[in-house]
Amino acid sequence: MAPYSATETHNNRVTADSWIAFTPHRRRVTAILEKLGSNSQSAQRRLCVVGAGNLNDVELSQLQRIYAHIELIDIDLAALERGLRRQMVAPDSPSITLRGVDVLGLSDGMSDDDVLDALASGKAVAAISSSVGRYCDVVAGTALISQLAIAVKKLVLASLTRPGGVVAHVSDLARRSDARGREIYSEAEIVESHMKTGASGDFFAGTNPAMLLQVGLGGVLTDGSFWMDGGQPLFWVWCITSTEQQHLDDGCLVAYALTWRVTRQPVDPRLLGETPMHSHNDRDEL
Ligand SMILES: C[S@@+](CC[C@H](N)C(=O)[O-])C[C@H]1O[C@@H](n2cnc3c(N)ncnc32)[C@H](O)[C@@H]1O
Repeated sequence: MAPYSATETHNNRVTADSWIAFTPHRRRVTAILEKLGSNSQSAQRRLCVVGAGNLNDVELSQLQRIYAHIELIDIDLAALERGLRRQMVAPDSPSITLRGVDVLGLSDGMSDDDVLDALASGKAVAAISSSVGRYCDVVAGTALISQLAIAVKKLVLASLTRPGGVVAHVSDLARRSDARGREIYSEAEIVESHMKTGASGDFFAGTNPAMLLQVGLGGVLTDGSFWMDGGQPLFWVWCITSTEQQHLDDGCLVAYALTWRVTRQPVDPRLLGETPMHSHNDRDEL
């Protein structure tokens, strides 16, 4: 298998020109982050976007109106730089910081057992916090590393959030062959085929929202809920074509967002014991 970071950078190169395909998705994600920011009481609001990649998911000029500072974090610094160029934001813009870091503090040579040890010992959490240095009011994982198990994903995001701040997890849920021409799905349609609480259900590995909502990291995260629209969880549609994203077939994806409030820091890594942290199958998915 290719080293971990090489796989990520390859995937990001493939999606580098997918800006247009991402438009409906980017519009939704940006609107959610704008709303979360405007709800924050902080005088100098800070946003962290983890797994920001090519920045296809976020419209920086709109977010800069709400947030005094934006941290864009990804293992693939070149993708972040490409994303900034596309959005015509100067790399030395004082309100934006690019961080080319592995949020797990891991290295390519590590085995899965090493990964588990790093998480259990707290080294990974320390690496995440020290790499960014400051907590954010809103921390968003945009399709963050679907090969990571649920508790790890939530731990990464919570570790960067100030107490009282908000974690947002945005993700694709599943591919739907009947989605073209639609903008949203109702909750009833999604529950029917995708939202089972067990391991079954038709969703991408590690993205089942029902399972994500179940993991509370021992009370570190509270008030978990779907992003709502008109009183209903919002499941929106965005479509890709094989010319825009060569490694994928044409198809439409259903996406959603979850949010939690963070009660305290630091996250105790022993809480990760509540659910498996890493799975070969999940990682092999990529
Ligand atoms: C599904 S992609 C998201 C792509 C991104 N939203 C975009 O617009 O291109 C997941 C992202 O997570 C990043 N990533 C994966 N593992 C990471 C890690 N351990 N630390 C930091 N970033 C990571 C990848 O480099 C990739 O950019």
